[in-house]
Amino acid sequence: MAWSSTSRTAAMTSETADDLRKLVYPETYFVGLAPAELRLALLSRGFAPPASKPLRYLELGFGTGFSLNIHAAANDGEFWGNDFVRAHVDGAASIASVSGADAHFLPDAFSDLLKRDDLPMFDIIAAHGIWTWVPDEDRAAIVELLKRKLAPGGALYVSYNNTAGWSSVVFLRQMMKLFLAEKGGRAEIGDAVAFARSLQGANASYFKENPIAASELTMMASRNPVYLQQEYFLDDWKLMSVAEVERALKPAGLQFGAQFPIILHDDDLVLGQRGQEILSTLESPILRETVRETFQGMGFRQDVFVKRAAKLSDEERRNHFRKQAFLMTTRPRHVMLKGASPWGELDLSA
Ligand SMILES: C[S@@+](CC[C@H](N)C(=O)[O-])C[C@H]1O[C@@H](n2cnc3c(N)ncnc32)[C@H](O)[C@@H]1O
Repeated sequence: MAWSSTSRTAAMTSETADDLRKLVYPETYFVGLAPAELRLALLSRGFAPPASKPLRYLELGFGTGFSLNIHAAANDGEFWGNDFVRAHVDGAASIASVSGADAHFLPDAFSDLLKRDDLPMFDIIAAHGIWTWVPDEDRAAIVELLKRKLAPGGALYVSYNNTAGWSSVVFLRQMMKLFLAEKGGRAEIGDAVAFARSLQGANASYFKENPIAASELTMMASRNPVYLQQEYFLDDWKLMSVAEVERALKPAGLQFGAQFPIILHDDDLVLGQRGQEILSTLESPILRETVRETFQGMGFRQDVFVKRAAKLSDEERRNHFRKQAFLMTTRPRHVMLKGASPWGELDLSA
């Protein structure tokens, strides 16, 4: 459910004991940040993908820069990123020195990017694992950056914790943080989790009324402690719905474009027959997306927003699709028409 639940496996270490916001992250690759995937998601929803060549790409808060390095090495274009943890910048730059990719890794905070005069206009700006977990002033700096530095026709990838799936967890988080505050350094995260469990064991109604919170509490036993710290115990953590994110991005001239991954564009799968009937009665794009969000009820969303992107006719969309390059990494007869989806195993042959 959370930004990293499927990918964060390695242990993380705190850079300094007194600065919990500056954590060193594990090396992970996120396919949703790939230019080709973003293009495909937008095309699927009938939006013209960012067009300029060479591509100009910026990743905000790139962590170890593993994804950014792969994208810089595998795509034509100019790749930039920032992260205020020095170890991230140095590590990412040392990988790029081997690949020879055209990449610029900046040690700047988001607000410092606004002071630079050497940044180009970008076609894609990506922020994975950032939006929910930073303070309001950082979100404001990101919106200002998008306003100034995302080119017209450009796209923003943003992932965030979503109200539709996680609103019941807000209370669990508050309660465990209060417990730790009361103990004032004499208790650890594990103690706060044990405290919540003791309330559940004593039949507190909250856990019965909020099954997602109850299952989160169960899963905490197997979670990495630093993941728990990031998701449950840091001060900055703001859930939003897709409509709220769109509202926050409006001053930068952005509107919702498409959700990632594109399996979620499948109306039969997501909405079913009755959901599609309801959707067909609605006109507002953001209300329609909110209906899709309701049917998904997920705690973590990955979205692509666009700045003044053109809507394509069916014919234009087909032509764009034909120009996309694909690489088969297995023989066609070995391609399984089945796969995992949030709703269980999906049979694509049907
Ligand atoms: C949750 S991690 C996500 C890392 C990476 N995007 C990923 O998904 O693996 C958040 C990253 O943003 C960086 N970060 C947080 N606030 C920042 C700020 N104000 N300026 C620059 N980097 C920041 C952190 O150092 C960290 O690497």
